[in-house]
Amino acid sequence: MAEPNELPLVTPPGQNGASAHPRESVTPRESERRYAQIIGWGYAIPEKVITNHDLEQIVDTTDEWIRSRTGIEERRVAADPKETTATLAIDAARRALEVADVHPSKLDLIICSSSSPEYIFPSTASVVQDAIGAENAGAFDLSAACSGFVYALSMARGHILAGDAEYVLVLGAETLSRIVDWTDRNTCVLFGDGAGAVLIAASPVPGGILACELGSDGSGAELLMVPAGGSAMPASLETVSSGNHFIKMDGKAVFRFAVRVMADATRAVLDKAGLDIDSLDLVIPHQANIRIVQNSVLKQLRIPEEKVFINLQKYGNTSTASIPIALCEAIEAGKVKPGNNLVFVGFGGGLTWAACAVHWSVPTDRPTTDWWKSTRRQAGYQAAAARSMWRRAVRWVYQVWPDDPEGKPIPDGEPVKEPVKEPEIQQNGVLRRDE
Ligand code: COA
Repeated sequence: MAEPNELPLVTPPGQNGASAHPRESVTPRESERRYAQIIGWGYAIPEKVITNHDLEQIVDTTDEWIRSRTGIEERRVAADPKETTATLAIDAARRALEVADVHPSKLDLIICSSSSPEYIFPSTASVVQDAIGAENAGAFDLSAACSGFVYALSMARGHILAGDAEYVLVLGAETLSRIVDWTDRNTCVLFGDGAGAVLIAASPVPGGILACELGSDGSGAELLMVPAGGSAMPASLETVSSGNHFIKMDGKAVFRFAVRVMADATRAVLDKAGLDIDSLDLVIPHQANIRIVQNSVLKQLRIPEEKVFINLQKYGNTSTASIPIALCEAIEAGKVKPGNNLVFVGFGGGLTWAACAVHWSVPTDRPTTDWWKSTRRQAGYQAAAARSMWRRAVRWVYQVWPDDPEGKPIPDGEPVKEPVKEPEIQQNGVLRRDE
């Protein structure tokens, strides 16, 4: 199989390259490569802070235990029932689009990674698509637990390099507080809520997402899971009363697994990207536990502390949202600059792990807020909400309307005529319509 950088060459959008976007009609040229660049980023976190001291009032724990075993000092929790995985994802998505100054109608695809999605289905990505008015975008959710955001980056890169998309919005969003057992001290002290988004664009500028390394080991599925609510254990009074809708975890086993795969996945992705550890400027690890990072990235790979971004003390483990939130904060802190080589590396339920190497190529100074643009953006979101309401209203009318909405009214008692099917015949072993 061809290496990513040996893929068929395609010209960038807007020039004379093949565009996946029907609105941009261009002809193929094979002299320029496509790259998947991160051009926008944003995050959203709930306002409510729960400190370790607050947890001391809920379960048998101490601030000292949580800090020393995990590094976590506080976490954010969606206390308002109206705040959900989708509302956080929508806020993060809007910020990412604003940073990139890209209109939602340009999006080709929205991928939302989550372990606490809005519903089993429809996808949280579809909810986001509707809310931001991304009328030309496909949308789907991705389930790879805490590794999900990096998996989603890999999917986005694939779509872009294949020429199937020009702009892909990647989201990692969680309200784990809704699936955490607040009486279980083994888990409730670890997790938090939040969402992060990045906008990936096809670009002729070399760099961007250079390589991805994905892995899984399903034999460890029961080490970290929500047992009930799926087809294996459908929701019932019993599953609810036994607490099987909550996160269950074997912390020690997950810890050992995490330490091993974080280091291995980082090495593997650097190898694929043709980089070495010395050429790395920043590692953004999944923010689960400071001791996991210390034992893997710092000790095994000997990456100096100043090259590893940590913010888990403020947010706890926000699962798939942790890497994009940390990326945004690293950018805010001036730790990401054009020309830098970054690695995102995560692990989680599945068991899964994932790493991706990025050569950062875009300026990181946020555009100054332009009054006109911001007003236009807000008006766009109002229009999207109005369009969505209109579509719902039309569907409602079609539901209550007594006649066939597509055509003539069907008089009572008159049999509905089935459309006449053309016969299909077999010729040379191939079924085809007789024309
Ligand atoms: N407060 C106080 N004591 C606690 C506690 C808490 N919140 N949680 C567990 N303990 C107790 C245990 O009951 C145990 O007591 P015992 O020795 O009397 O049996 C003791 O602390 C030590 O527990 P142990 O499991 O050995 O702690 P640990 O050092 O392994 O740390 C984790 C526990 C969960 C912090 C650690 O295993 C971990 O981070 N694992 C990975 C989890 C993770 O990242 N999950 C998400 C993956 S995406």
